[in-house]
Amino acid sequence: MLRTDHFIRFERVSSVRETHRGIEADVHGERFRVEVCRPDVVRLRMSRGGAFDDQPTYAVCVDPLAADVAWLAEPGEQVWRVVTDELTVSVWLDPFRVDVHRADGSAVLETAADEEGRYWTYATLNDSWTTRRVCGPDDAFFGLGEKGGRLDRRGRDFTMWNTDVLNEHATAEFRAGLEQADPRSDMSSTEFDPYYVNIPFLYHQSNPSAAMGGSFVDNGYRGYYELSREADFGIAFAGGQWTEYVFAGPAMPSVLGAYTWLTGRASMPPLWALGYHQCRWQAYSQDDLVALGDRLRAEGFPCDALWLDIDYMDGYRVFTWDEKLFPDPSAMLVRLRDKGFKVVTIVDPGVKHDPGYEVYDDGLARDVFCRTEGGDTYIGQVWPGNTAFPDFATPEAREWWGTLNAAHVESGLAGIWNDMNEPATGEIPPGAMRFDHGRESHERYHNQYALLMAMGTHEGLNRARPGEPTFILSRAGFAGIQRYAANWMGDNQARWDHLWLSVPMACGFGLSGQPFVGADIGGFQGNSNPELFARWMQAGTLTPFCRNHSETGNIDQYPWSFGPEVLDIAREAVRLRYRLMPYIHAAFEHAVATGEPVQRPLVLDHQDDPAAVAADDEYLFGRDLLVAPVYEPGVTSRDVYLPRGHWYDWHSGELHEGGQTITAAAPLDRIPIFARAGARIPLWREAPASTADADLSDVEWREFAEVES
Ligand code: NOJ
Repeated sequence: MLRTDHFIRFERVSSVRETHRGIEADVHGERFRVEVCRPDVVRLRMSRGGAFDDQPTYAVCVDPLAADVAWLAEPGEQVWRVVTDELTVSVWLDPFRVDVHRADGSAVLETAADEEGRYWTYATLNDSWTTRRVCGPDDAFFGLGEKGGRLDRRGRDFTMWNTDVLNEHATAEFRAGLEQADPRSDMSSTEFDPYYVNIPFLYHQSNPSAAMGGSFVDNGYRGYYELSREADFGIAFAGGQWTEYVFAGPAMPSVLGAYTWLTGRASMPPLWALGYHQCRWQAYSQDDLVALGDRLRAEGFPCDALWLDIDYMDGYRVFTWDEKLFPDPSAMLVRLRDKGFKVVTIVDPGVKHDPGYEVYDDGLARDVFCRTEGGDTYIGQVWPGNTAFPDFATPEAREWWGTLNAAHVESGLAGIWNDMNEPATGEIPPGAMRFDHGRESHERYHNQYALLMAMGTHEGLNRARPGEPTFILSRAGFAGIQRYAANWMGDNQARWDHLWLSVPMACGFGLSGQPFVGADIGGFQGNSNPELFARWMQAGTLTPFCRNHSETGNIDQYPWSFGPEVLDIAREAVRLRYRLMPYIHAAFEHAVATGEPVQRPLVLDHQDDPAAVAADDEYLFGRDLLVAPVYEPGVTSRDVYLPRGHWYDWHSGELHEGGQTITAAAPLDRIPIFARAGARIPLWREAPASTADADLSDVEWREFAEVES
């Protein structure tokens, strides 16, 4: 994918000058700029046709050059340097080469040379560009958003293209491009790639120093990260400009803090959204939904939200209700509200091509649908058959969509679930879908589609309920999605390895700025089974977003579907979540303030401990609880690595010294959990039926005594 033989390499800088924010170099008829954003953040960018694209995507939400920063330019015969208190950017003139080092001399990035000594700082071929950087044999990589496989991305290659993974038409093109069998093309493999959310933000850990630098390429086109090579790695994009933010680190939280300064942080979700969510792709009627709520209450099973999938609509027409199944949605919502339930409905972007259907007619009249090159309305295929797609790249379409959402929730709905927003277009390839009234290519906006959809929805919900926190769940996304929506991890499978996969995937999301994530508990595709469901409930209730969801046609996957023993285990798991609610709430407050995840991989706090860096089958939930789910059938214990410090077994109170792997007891009714010595965990005294009437300040504390080392 990164064959560079035909590319035109930019080899020589002809002149350099100082700008108000850094330097600008002339190179092969283009202009290359180094701009200082903060002492620890610089922007590198290359013009195209001599011009700079000042808003390549909607990811960045601050003016990165707004702050006053001390810096200086050091001109030279062979190299020009831009120096801040934390970083030095060196631009070598002949051959053209860019390196970024920290004040202590350690490398954040260095341009790689090939066997013939040629540097690959920047090369273009038609609309594509590529760059290569040096890496050491023991270096590690993290980030890139929702990716399969291990949390450390080293040793694999990745494509950045939002994909509806179960749609064979969407993945066929990728498969066809592979010369041999590749786990990335097999959906059942845990290394499948790419998924629904792609975020071009990469951490590079240099080892053995363990220093962590970061890079965010602000480009929404199809991208490639080639991390499988020995001594270098490549980044390539099939369009757009090279606009890259480089973060000094060397601590991982400071890289993440800088990235989320740039692309924004999540806002505080409503409390109910942190509760247990019951979902299923099923044609419920309004009485069914009320009966489901009653059953949950009768079973003493805490729950805050019931969800409606596509069948609540009239023929899958968005913003409608099937009047037979739901003769009076508002009355149903009042009945459920009185029992402490919120309701969330799905809203897909595809608008049924159906003259006479109000939403379609209105969209056409307002000219807010995507067009083809020839000027027609682009038509793809989703659940209702032929569908038009809102052109979310325009403010008019976003506003229109926001208004539709606002009207939809007036019935009393609490939140919106955005699906199929990669965008998924069924059998019709998406390439002909153009944006901005047909002026812009599909490739420019494909990866941003869900971000822009969430932006419009968020604005609409804010207008409808000013001052109230909003709740949107999105399947696809791009850098910045955390500002508007939570993400679930799409169509996983009811398999043990997919239960494991949900941990590094959620942690990768968290390291990429999105803290509000969760997998379908129990597994979406295929039938779950009693043991898998019990283990998944134990794990899933200790993740940021906690929703049981399953595909239509599967056996039932309600908490009671697998018999009384599993129901008891699931109830205990969800009650523990509700008892921990003040602690979970505080973990979200921390995420909102810092950009750090709620589900924290061990590497975030222990990047200098190789065992912690490698541990991606356990995680910290909040900053003080270590969770080690069980991913295998038939086992009653598992190995758990405890990082430095001291840790108390949550269940037995036994104290363990960190820096070692222990064997933790894990009979079917127990998930291994450890509390950090010195932690004070706020708990609700009892698990309520829902968060509706609970008081966040009425807590008891569980204290775990500090231990002198
Ligand atoms: C695909 C989604 O990923 C899944 O969660 C949903 O149930 C179906 N679409 C039907 O809407």
